[in-house]
Amino acid sequence: CGIVGYVGSQSALDVVLAGLKRLEYRGYDSAGVAVLADGGLAAAKKAGKLVNLEKELVDRPLPAGSSGIGHTRWATHGGPTDGNAHPHLDNAGRVAVVHNGIIENFAALRAELEERGHRLSSETDTEVVAHLLAEEYSACADLAESMRLVCRRLDGAFTLVAVHADEPDVVVGARRNSPLVVGVGEGESFLASDVAAFIAHTRTAIELGQDQVVELRQGGVTVTDFEGNPADHRTYHVDWDVSAAEKGGYDYFMLKEIAEQPKAVADTLLGRIDAAGSLTLDEVRIPDSVLREVDKVVIVACGTAFHAGLIAKYAIEHWTRMPCEVELASEFRYRDPILDPRTLVIAISQSGETMDTLMALRHAREQGSKVLAICNTNGSTIPRESDAVLYTHAGPEVAVASTKAFLTQLVACYLVALYLGQVRGTKWGDEIGAVIHELSEIAGAVEQVLDTMEPVRELARSLADKNTVLFLGRHVGYPVALEGALKLKELAYMHAEGFAAGELKHGPIALIERDVPVVVIVPSPRGRSVLHDKIVSNIQEIRARGARTIVIAEEGDEAVVPYADHLIRIPATPTLLQPLVATVPLQVFACELATARGNEVDQPRNLAKSVTVE
Ligand code: G6P
Repeated sequence: CGIVGYVGSQSALDVVLAGLKRLEYRGYDSAGVAVLADGGLAAAKKAGKLVNLEKELVDRPLPAGSSGIGHTRWATHGGPTDGNAHPHLDNAGRVAVVHNGIIENFAALRAELEERGHRLSSETDTEVVAHLLAEEYSACADLAESMRLVCRRLDGAFTLVAVHADEPDVVVGARRNSPLVVGVGEGESFLASDVAAFIAHTRTAIELGQDQVVELRQGGVTVTDFEGNPADHRTYHVDWDVSAAEKGGYDYFMLKEIAEQPKAVADTLLGRIDAAGSLTLDEVRIPDSVLREVDKVVIVACGTAFHAGLIAKYAIEHWTRMPCEVELASEFRYRDPILDPRTLVIAISQSGETMDTLMALRHAREQGSKVLAICNTNGSTIPRESDAVLYTHAGPEVAVASTKAFLTQLVACYLVALYLGQVRGTKWGDEIGAVIHELSEIAGAVEQVLDTMEPVRELARSLADKNTVLFLGRHVGYPVALEGALKLKELAYMHAEGFAAGELKHGPIALIERDVPVVVIVPSPRGRSVLHDKIVSNIQEIRARGARTIVIAEEGDEAVVPYADHLIRIPATPTLLQPLVATVPLQVFACELATARGNEVDQPRNLAKSVTVE
């Protein structure tokens, strides 16, 4: 969910709505606002996207006010209805609350409140907070103090932001696990789940820690812990500006983000490879002596980041000769994984807020393992709780389906793999030197792919009425196939599956029938030519059974030509780096298919970009 709060001299309603617009990627099942004006509190909320709320506000305008809060929701408790939308108010209509996360003990709290005569009208866990705050406020007449008292009674992960009609110049926020950042302006203050919400007003931000409460006033902010003691917090400068969070002439954020990939890749490499071809990863504060002792790597991540992890395994094992496991973060801690201080856990996350990944890394640290985060969001929870972080420099990614963040995650994974190789002195021969050189020039190859995408778009449009698309790959091409299928599911709502090409004969080949599109990612014919020859045989097998073959192959690979109904060329790269170029056509393909099918590219149904519940 996305949360915004504002106190200042501008129209709170305008600031909050503009902020919500920038956070809509976090959820768009419903939206709502509350403003404090004329001694009272006025609220509006509506199911569906933010535009529904905006229409409602045209029909039933709210006063502008000088403080307010807003919310855009990704439903957990209770369906996406007007009634379940945030903010939630107490019975007297004096307190309004918005919330992200889950309050686990809400049923017990609700029963307690009902016993005391409160009438709760929604199915949400959030509403109990509004009622609890109203009770506490009637005793202490201090919203921040009421929030602290209420938070101490809540179980679960949450971010809460509240206002009270009796304190028209105050907005209070609380944070446990879910993200919340403060923006500090001149005579105005902001609260949001992401700096994007207030970047148009200020680039000075405060990162709140676990279990902290912040009180926003025009003149400044006060941060305490849940007991009321002054709390430590870090102020930082946001190093990108508002244009980075805007579409800049593209129809969709996703198109812009796909186009930004060469820069994102180059930025992520910047300063990390020196002229002599050795790596410096200053941020990786885990001492080299500790990295030398590591005997196993475990990667945890979700969604697209998980696919980056699957590719990293090939690189880490090949370049360091250390075993590497990759696991979905949501499965990891529930199966009693074998971890010890010699295990290096790598948590990959664009947002740095994914609850499944956060829980996995906490579990790993509890077992004494060191955790390295690969993350795109400065100051987010996952890097804060890790031993070290290697930031990807993709810039803000707004479209829900990840593109540029994925490519930069791959780059970061290669850097870590190579760095481990460098520190440990394993396989530090000619191959590594050549790979580092190729990596330093890979942004140009990505650019080259982007320049040749028109036929891919045309092909996608011609397949808009298909029901299913299959993806095949071998070696690092296998996770690329999984990512291609995921993109298509997310964006085109089509049945899509990725398979290891070698598994085809063990089952999936039964799915092949006349004209089913099958995308095949072909490894380079150089070097590992056995792999290449095997996949060429796979293409022949499926074509013989009527499949329509869409082949992604390196320039100059002539062996595939007779069997490709459609041929997509990518520049030659070392095998392990091929995913950086092979994924790009699949992103373009999914994006174009979604558009052809009339789908919302940036905000696919039911999804949210940052999933802060388990
Ligand atoms: C959500 C998004 C996916 C993303 C996954 C992991 O499910 O919809 O696109 O890959 O979370 O996100 P993270 O921020 O941890 O990389």
